[in-house]
Amino acid sequence: MGRSVYLDYSATTPTDARVVEAMMPYFTTFFGNASSAHRYGRKAEQAVEDARATIARLLHCKHEEVVFTSCGSESNNLALRGAGVARKQREGRGHLVTTPIEHSAVGKTVDVLCDTMGFTKSLVSVSRDGRVDSEAFVETLREDTAVASVIYANNEVGTVQPIAQLAAVARQKGVLFHTDAVQAAGQLSLDVRELGVDMMSLSAHKFYGPKGVGALYVREGVPLVPSQSGGSHEGGRRAGTLNTPLIVGMAKALQLAYEEREQRLAHYLHLRNMLKEGILSRVSDVEVTGHPEQRLPSHISFIFGGIDGNQLLMHLDIRGVAASSASACKTGNPEPSGVLLALGYSREQALGSLRLSVGQDTTEDDVIFAIDAIVDAVTALRKLKASLGR
Ligand SMILES: Cc1ncc(COP(=O)(O)O)c(C=O)c1O
Repeated sequence: MGRSVYLDYSATTPTDARVVEAMMPYFTTFFGNASSAHRYGRKAEQAVEDARATIARLLHCKHEEVVFTSCGSESNNLALRGAGVARKQREGRGHLVTTPIEHSAVGKTVDVLCDTMGFTKSLVSVSRDGRVDSEAFVETLREDTAVASVIYANNEVGTVQPIAQLAAVARQKGVLFHTDAVQAAGQLSLDVRELGVDMMSLSAHKFYGPKGVGALYVREGVPLVPSQSGGSHEGGRRAGTLNTPLIVGMAKALQLAYEEREQRLAHYLHLRNMLKEGILSRVSDVEVTGHPEQRLPSHISFIFGGIDGNQLLMHLDIRGVAASSASACKTGNPEPSGVLLALGYSREQALGSLRLSVGQDTTEDDVIFAIDAIVDAVTALRKLKASLGR
């Protein structure tokens, strides 16, 4: 096999070797159930509570405000279903506010709540660079709004939202504010006191932790009906035996991400800017999507005129470059990205999207190799299109 360059760190990251090392004893030696009363259980429980304390310290919240889940999607479900249903039952608030650029774990969950549980929703408009309009946001909040949910950093176009500003407005109106911080975690501040959010979703595999574990920050006092019933784990908010090794891994990964944040972000920004400049200077009819400055340091996204993003991905894969079109979850799906349509792009433009995301292991040589491959693939696809007269 020839050279391989992975530029899809927004889809997932490898698990850091130091994280794997921290997790290993909890698969074998310390395998106890964290709910058991004996010494095996106590050892596992201690590891879970140490992990909870580490995460709480990084989020500036209380230990009990961290609820472990199985992934970012589950955290989003728990926040919206849990707080939405609780407020509807207790206060008759059955209105939800969100944006058209959420990950499907928020967007579809809101739709399911509307279709099956009598909720209504309002979507806040976004600008072409993907920022939520704060005046439009205020206007959508109503007396019966239960929860507002706005993504912290968008997975497709990388735009970062003014979360503290939006959360403050929601609080003034008595609306619970949730943010999906799955892409933001590891790169942006997760200080929930500064952000002023009531709930925040995280997923370990986006910051060099293992797949299959996430967390939801739930501010003390926020009513939450568990979206999964059973035992009284996690203060009755999420039933299921705690996955000790994965929880230990998540805490270790988040700790490393913030200890090493300065160096990591400088590395990402340097390589991301190289990619951006290389592509803009060598390819015609190409546009950067998302906000020019308010965006994730590791992320750059484009629209190439007259190109099918999925074909481009295949041509890049053949040339050894792994990237993504709009969103990893949609790869292989020829439908244009709803996010790009919501930003005002046409269907044809939206089909020509490419997302590149760099990581700790990416080198300058990788970036040079990837730029050459992208220039080559775009040129080949355009030539083919011209020769077919389409
Ligand atoms: C913004 C955002 N939210 C939620 C998720 C879902 O996270 P998980 O894969 O842990 O379910 C993703 C994953 O791509 C994401 O990018």
